[in-house]
This record gives sequence, C-alpha cells and structure tokens, in this order.
Amino acid sequence: MDLYEYQAKDMFREHGVPAPAGRVVRSVDDAAAAAEEFGLPVMVKSQVKIGGRGKAGGVKFSPTIDKVRENAGNILGLDIKGHITRQILIAPASDIAEEYYVSFLLDRANRTFLAMATHEGGMEIEQLAEERPDALAKIPVDALTGVDLRKAEEIADAGKFPAEVRDQVIQILIKLWETFEAEDATLVEVNPLVRTPEGEVIALDGKVSLDENAAFRHPDHAALADAEAENPLEVRAKEKGLNYVKLDGQVGIIGNGAGLVMSTLDVVAYAGEQHGGVTPANFLDIGGGASAEVMANGLDIILSDPDVRSVFVNVFGGITACDAVANGIVKALEILGDAATKPLVVRLDGNNVEEGRRILNEAAHPLVTQSDTMDAGADKAAELAHAGV
Ligand SMILES: Nc1ncnc2c1ncn2[C@@H]1O[C@H](COP(=O)(O)OP(=O)(O)OP(=O)(O)O)[C@@H](O)[C@H]1O
Ligand SMILES: [Mg+2]
Repeated sequence: MDLYEYQAKDMFREHGVPAPAGRVVRSVDDAAAAAEEFGLPVMVKSQVKIGGRGKAGGVKFSPTIDKVRENAGNILGLDIKGHITRQILIAPASDIAEEYYVSFLLDRANRTFLAMATHEGGMEIEQLAEERPDALAKIPVDALTGVDLRKAEEIADAGKFPAEVRDQVIQILIKLWETFEAEDATLVEVNPLVRTPEGEVIALDGKVSLDENAAFRHPDHAALADAEAENPLEVRAKEKGLNYVKLDGQVGIIGNGAGLVMSTLDVVAYAGEQHGGVTPANFLDIGGGASAEVMANGLDIILSDPDVRSVFVNVFGGITACDAVANGIVKALEILGDAATKPLVVRLDGNNVEEGRRILNEAAHPLVTQSDTMDAGADKAAELAHAGV
C-alpha cells in the first residue's frame, strides 16, 4: 500500500525524521484558512499516489492568499497521469539552499535491502540513475544488522554529502531506517531532502510503501488505507475475503489456486491475440474450498465489472472436487438470477471431473459453455469477449 505524501511525512515525524507539517484540505476556502494560519508563503501540493506532481503543475509556490486560492483552485481536480487530485497539502514554503536524495527499499532482485543516496538532488532520480549512475550511491543493507551509526556513515559518505550536513544526514538515515523497519515498509524515500540557508536538513517530500503482508502487525495502518483511491470492485472483493485484482481487459477470470490463475491469465492473453486483442479483466483466486457462496461472490464481482464481456472459470478439482465446484457454479447462477448476463466458459479437470461435467450438462444453463482443456476454454472465452465488444 502506497501512502500519500502527507501520511508519509506524518510517519517520518513519528520516528524523528524532521519533516515540516502541513494541513490537508479539500476546498479553496480551507486552503486559504490554512495558509493564513501557517503564514505566507506556502506550497500548495497535490496529494496523489503518483510521482512527477511538480512537473504536472501539482506543486505551486504561493506567496499571497490570492495565489493560494488560485493555485488551490487549479490543483483541486487536476488529473495527474490518471490520478484525480481530491486533496491538497498546504505546507509552509521552506527556503532551499541544496536538494539531496535518500531512500531505503527492498531490493527483490538481490534479495536484500538497499540504501540509495546522493547529495545531487533536484532532478528525477530515475534520470540520474540512468545518466550518471556513479552519482547515486547504492549500498546494500543487511536485514539482521540494519543501519547503525557505522552503516549510516558509510551511506552518507558514499552519497558524498557535504561536511556541514554530514552529521544531520547520518541521524536522518538512522531514523529513516527505523521508520522502514518498524513500519514494515518496502520503500521509504525522501526527495528532496533539503538544506535550508540556516543549515537545517529537512524532508520536504516523502514516499512510503507499506508491506501489506505485515498488516496484521500494524492495526493502525488500516486507517491509512484510502477507499476513495482504491478500485471499488477491489474494495468489495476485500470485504468478501476474495483474492481479487482488477486488470484492464475484457475476459473475467476465476480459478482456484494462485498459480493456476496466473497461468490462466497468460493463456487468455495469448488466446486474445487471435480475437481482437482482448485480455484478462481481473485476477481472482477462489482458493481451495470453492463453496457455492464463494463462487457466487466471485461471479457477482466479476459480472458487475462493466468491462467484462465473458468469464472463464478454470478449476482444477483437488480437495474440493469438481462436482462440488459444478454445484457451486449452478447454485451461484441461481443466486445471481438476472444479474448473470455474460457468457461463462467453464473448464473443469481433476478430482471427480466426470461428475462435475455431468452436473453442468444437466443444469444446461444457457450462459454456460464447457470446455475440456485450458487452451480451448481460453480461446472460447476470448472469442466470446471479442464478439461481445
Ligand atoms: N515545502 C516546500 N517548500 C519549498 N519548496 C518545496 C516544498 N515542497 C516542495 N518544494 C519544491 O517543489 C519540488 C517538487 O515537490 P515534491 O518533491 O514534493 O513533488 P514532486 O517531486 O514533483 O513529486 P513526486 O516526488 O511525487 O515526483 C521540490 O523538489 C522542491 O523544490
Ligand atoms: Mg519529490
């Protein structure tokens, strides 16, 4: 789960990383009121979970109340790469002498944590990493030893921070690592970390991604989730305890077991190349015990996705045998009644497959087509989706 800038900086402050507080507002009047309270000048900053806000016109220096109103009016509602701005942060504007960059992240490829740091901030870090990789220090961090004083010194020196800010940067690195570790983050990033003309080092922007697999250790993190920014189908699926991810395509997918569902996505995407380029509309793993209720919940979510043109149910019977799954599908269609409107291709295999297929044949639901193999089923579902477009 990614956090908004203001949430990231709240979290930084809780762990002792200096990051000036601001106020999040949703209207021009509240923006003006916050600016009056902080004193001018302020920054008006779009709060969206995507980078490059400044370049998109979502971060504006505002020296007068009129400017605060004008900028707030322009930024509220601003679309930044498909993310609509619904909240803006009003933050005191800091004078900046220099801009730096520091981050900790989970480096999956190398199976370690990684610190990245440079005294050359101010430009896009991806661009710096590409054009002048030597300017961006990358220091692996061992999960067991973490970032102690010596490690922080190593990172600060590799990032070539000037002597006058070295001690402050070292303390910030230690606290930022504490944030990373204590909150079970996969990314904490400060871009820019700045030196003010008075010589203070502070975080002016923050990015945090939390590891949702560790959510059970952080009951307080639930409050950071943002139903508004989440896909409504995913929110509903979560409420029903379903493992569902919305994708961009037209073929709804239901399977049992994450591996089978992943390969079903691949096979459908491949088959779709022959049928107008249709692709999977979602990932949905109904897991081992596919009861009628779970099947109905899953179908209900997929069928209420307006992008979906057909559904491919791909189940390999194991502990829950195919006859139980087939009964589940029949009951689910009964439960859904008229809400079921799109063609279903069902491929059953594995434990008790003959009985499962017999049950579906006998039910003879007009929307259901059976398929003996995964490839044939994917092809049929893609064909139906294309025909329905
Ligand atoms: N409180 C502030 N005071 C003064 N200048 C600021 C402040 N916040 C941001 N800035 C300036 O605006 C620039 C862009 O702001 P910020 O880093 O928050 O957004 P961004 O980098 O464009 O967005 P993202 O990090 O999401 O890509 C900063 O590099 C900094 O120069
Ligand atoms: Mg930034």
